[in-house]
Amino acid sequence: MTSPLALLGGKPVIDQQTPHFSWPPLPDSATAAVLDQLDEGISIYDRSGVIARLEDALGDYFDARHAVLTSSGTAALYSMYAACGIGPGDEVIVPAYTFFATATPLLHLGATPVLADCDTSGNIDPQDVPRRITDRTKAIAVTHMWGMPAQIQTLNRLADGYGLQLLEDASHAHGASVSGKKVGTFGRAAAFSMNGPKPLSAGEGGFVLTDDDEVYHRVLLHGQYNKRCRNEIPADIELSRYAVTGMGLKHRIHPIAAAIGLEQLSHLDDYLSGRQRIAEYIGEKLDPELGITVTWHEPEVQPSWYGLTMRYETEFFDGVSVERFHAALQAEGCDEIDRPGSTCPLNLLPLFQDPGPLFPAFTGKLAYAPGDYPRAEQTHHATLKLPVWHRDEDLPLVDRYIEAIYKVIAHHADLKG
Ligand SMILES: Cc1ncc(COP(=O)(O)O)c(C=O)c1O
Repeated sequence: MTSPLALLGGKPVIDQQTPHFSWPPLPDSATAAVLDQLDEGISIYDRSGVIARLEDALGDYFDARHAVLTSSGTAALYSMYAACGIGPGDEVIVPAYTFFATATPLLHLGATPVLADCDTSGNIDPQDVPRRITDRTKAIAVTHMWGMPAQIQTLNRLADGYGLQLLEDASHAHGASVSGKKVGTFGRAAAFSMNGPKPLSAGEGGFVLTDDDEVYHRVLLHGQYNKRCRNEIPADIELSRYAVTGMGLKHRIHPIAAAIGLEQLSHLDDYLSGRQRIAEYIGEKLDPELGITVTWHEPEVQPSWYGLTMRYETEFFDGVSVERFHAALQAEGCDEIDRPGSTCPLNLLPLFQDPGPLFPAFTGKLAYAPGDYPRAEQTHHATLKLPVWHRDEDLPLVDRYIEAIYKVIAHHADLKG
């Protein structure tokens, strides 16, 4: 008997043309915003025009005192760490499982990222943090992986208890919240990316949020020199004498990107509520008893659903590897079901095993190895990830994805060997 699995020659469940998901949606209003910006100006040196409009809108949306736009999320993280006083010899506790840019700016500041293992959601585990704290630790940096908020209230209490700064990399989690408070507002400062697929996308870009005036001034000095520093850092502040040069780096966002980000921000809550509906729909349809467990959340937690992650429980599948199961899903046409690659436990990356050749001046100790973070490695290995659609008209395609998952589950025995 031939197997009906497409990987083994059967007919795929999904024959709809790819891509099945593209982000961000770019309605006519986005095109109009770009064309208007071309007229208004494509180079802005100060906090005027679309820069002020988007920073004000972000400040309102997040209820934050200051928002500073940057050229990328990486630049936002770099400015945030520099502005929070992280420097040579300092240690910052970061999740072992995150995108590497959560940690790489620390190397440029001469600071050491100290990795902590993850909980069952893939986020930094508060219970693994205390044993990583030393007298050099300055901060705990938290990522909300795939838009699922970390245990941020517990981490906040932990940071307070040890006198550490809590910083957030909320690059996956625009608009996500815990008990009604948006992530990115729990710590001293937060950094966000607005690159291509992010819940709030500007194509490229990022921003820092903070309520702290000193952090704000130092973020400006780090990457927004001259006019912004001269206009926004009051003359009676000691650091204002550096306004012309700042620290000499330039992290300004492109005004066209800011125009796209502003237009997207006006839709963000609609996108998020649509995603919540579809995530719930998928969560209800996938029976965890069958071996594919959707990462879910407590009622007070509102994710941004940057991705919906599913854990492949190998023991349900008679030894069929996740790689083979994933290949079978792809053969069924589930083009969007992904196994994250470069977003992986940082101890698996050469930069965190041996930074010396790229950072000869780095004096910290950084020599991680595979096997150091078993939970992060296991989570990474077992994770299948789906983007979350937001429109009801996407539901028929969602149904086909679910049908394909059930088909591969039902026929998994054919994948053995
Ligand atoms: C968690 C996280 N932090 C930081 C970044 C870096 O953002 P950017 O690509 O805008 O520099 C990313 C990018 O994907 C990310 O996923």
